[in-house]
Amino acid sequence: MQKQPAIITQGLTRCFDEITAVDHLDLEIYPGEVLGFIGHNGAGKTTTVRLLNGVLTPTSGKAQVLGLDPSVDGALLRQRTGVLTETPSVDERLTGYENLSIFGALYNVPAADLDRRVADLLELFQLSERAGDRVSEYSKGMKQKLALARAMIHQPELLFLDEPTSGLDPVITRQVHTLIQDLSKNGDHTVFLCTHNLAEAQRLCDRVAVLENGKMVALGSPAALAQELWKGVHLEFETAYDALPGALRTLETLPDVYDVIQGEGQPVISLSLTYREQVPGMVARLVEAGVPLYRLTPKDPTLEDIYFALHENKPEVNR
Ligand SMILES: Nc1ncnc2c1ncn2[C@@H]1O[C@H](COP(=O)(O)OP(=O)(O)O)[C@@H](O)[C@H]1O
Ligand SMILES: [Mg+2]
Repeated sequence: MQKQPAIITQGLTRCFDEITAVDHLDLEIYPGEVLGFIGHNGAGKTTTVRLLNGVLTPTSGKAQVLGLDPSVDGALLRQRTGVLTETPSVDERLTGYENLSIFGALYNVPAADLDRRVADLLELFQLSERAGDRVSEYSKGMKQKLALARAMIHQPELLFLDEPTSGLDPVITRQVHTLIQDLSKNGDHTVFLCTHNLAEAQRLCDRVAVLENGKMVALGSPAALAQELWKGVHLEFETAYDALPGALRTLETLPDVYDVIQGEGQPVISLSLTYREQVPGMVARLVEAGVPLYRLTPKDPTLEDIYFALHENKPEVNR
């Protein structure tokens, strides 16, 4: 039996004066799903999160989150959701431990469980050693991890993460990614992840919704969107070292070929073509030029390819 969606929006719209920040959004998100909400700055991601948490009321349309109407039952709902806002503020004067304990008590974590839960989260986020230090002495990455731990202290069924890795270094970013992956693996956590980092969405999300000027312009798994929107091909071929210069010269004469990159440490070249149909012609030209082909491997399109196809930044792409 299909589970009841964790989030349903119908025609959800929010205007600020003449700006329509969220424009007739229709969306269903299922329990256990990690949904990526992607779009450039100002697309309406944060406004959507605020609508779904009852911090803002819609201009028109409606939302149902965990069976509740956020604009009516916002306080009740927020007991069951965790939110990492775009610019989270943890209390700098308190220690990491105190921040989590106070927030947990505020969110009705039973006193008998609270200490254990705080300790577990500090451990998980590798903050245990610094738990007794004031947050003002933490690095930006540590503050962000503490904010994420705080959003999870009451074990919310639904977690909203608004740009969770923005401004973090690659090491901490990877830790946060692993945490999000673990969350979704461990059962019924639903994650609504706003990001403008396409690689992040590709890595973490079951489905992505692409938002542009408040409107959802695409929705689906990265693979499904690729099939629908991306007509190009990335591929890689292996040749011989002494054939590399000839191969590169030949590729230069082919107008359909772009992003030609020579691999390091191997006689391998990767490239992109606008259409799949251009592959046989390219292979024929390489063979005519005496380039031996030992292996030809397609590479999956990235979410970035899909995004650009969608935004027509590549005029050659057939839509
Ligand atoms: N409180 C507000 N008052 C006026 N305009 C707002 C407000 N919040 C957001 N906006 C506008 O709504 C649009 C969407 O913003 P936002 O939801 O923050 O986008 P994103 O999170 O995708 O970057 C932007 O044009 C922004 O300037
Ligand atoms: Mg935002």
